[in-house]
Amino acid sequence: MTDQSPQAQVESITKAFEQDFGRFASFSDDPSALSSLGLDAALAEQRAVTELRTRYLGKKSDLAAAKKLIGRVAPEERAGFGQLVQATQDKLETMLDQVELSLRNYIEAERTARESIDVTMPGRRPRTGHRHPITLLRERLEDVFVALGYAIEDDREIETDFYNFDALNIPENHPARAWQDTFYTVDGFALRSQTSTVQIHAMQRRGVPVRMIAPGRVFRRDTPDPTHNPMFFQVEGLCVDRGITMAHLKGTVAEFLRRMFGPDTVTRFRPSYFPFTEPSAEFDFSCFKCKGSGCRICKNSGWIELGGSGMVHPNVLRAVGVDPQEYSGFAFGLGIDRMCALMYELDDIRLLFENDVRFLEKFE
Ligand code: FA5
Repeated sequence: MTDQSPQAQVESITKAFEQDFGRFASFSDDPSALSSLGLDAALAEQRAVTELRTRYLGKKSDLAAAKKLIGRVAPEERAGFGQLVQATQDKLETMLDQVELSLRNYIEAERTARESIDVTMPGRRPRTGHRHPITLLRERLEDVFVALGYAIEDDREIETDFYNFDALNIPENHPARAWQDTFYTVDGFALRSQTSTVQIHAMQRRGVPVRMIAPGRVFRRDTPDPTHNPMFFQVEGLCVDRGITMAHLKGTVAEFLRRMFGPDTVTRFRPSYFPFTEPSAEFDFSCFKCKGSGCRICKNSGWIELGGSGMVHPNVLRAVGVDPQEYSGFAFGLGIDRMCALMYELDDIRLLFENDVRFLEKFE
């Protein structure tokens, strides 16, 4: 301390304090001074006020030193000096308390406002995706066949030669086995080129009689163009029981197409060849757009080609240990992608797998 009188020392402490305290004074007098502050600045000011308290009222403060002088001033001045020191301490404490209280209240209110949730605010709707058009069509197909009493089979996409070819009566030298027609992996496995493989799995798994459809992905080394993709979807159908005839095949396919495309739909069968059916037929249905009079969709023929079918070849039944003398059956298979393109009037099936969300969003 200086050579000032003890009284003068206390007065200069008060002056110095008032100067340092100046910038905080408005916080307790004027609430708007606080409101322009913001939470982070208010927290900084709170720390500054604590420092100020330590500096002016702490154990090592000038005021604490002045207190120690009380015993040393002349006895007649002692009471007066003691009161001055005490009054100064009370004044500083009151001023600091007030500003601290204002800051504390402000900080609490700001925190509450920041953390509070407006429960009346509308929620943010999560962006939901859309089902792919192929999925939509597959589900419709499944609904129709489930209603006709068919089970749904799902099976592997990588196959051995036995399921992809041998059991389906596709002999060693058949063109379908060629490298350029199928994707082979190592060790004699191939990506299945048709869902007909599931005929074999289903009969092995379920035995006969059996009635099932198997929608799924198939792969062929086809060059992509508006009606071909190297990966596409088929749905296979199989019905094996005693006394099954071609009439059941025609009735089932016709009923399926009526349920898909309306009660007036007409179906026609054309002779064809598949190694695993005998006799074999391809089936067409009357154009759902023009009802047979000819339009762009059916290329003016009035008919739309849909898939292959036939009576299960006896060799296929034998391959799974079923006696062809006792059981007979029919099978059919159609391409879902092309059917989807027709239904939604797409010019190019490649659109289905370009994954352009603007395209996919159009389907519900
Ligand atoms: C078959 O795959 C036979 N498994 C169908 C069958 C099943 C006959 C049961 C008899 C008994 P096909 O190779 O014709 O048949 O193909 C069937 C359908 O798949 C075609 O009508 C067509 O719609 C579709 N398809 C064929 N290749 C492609 C391709 N690259 N891209 C898109 N769709 C295709």
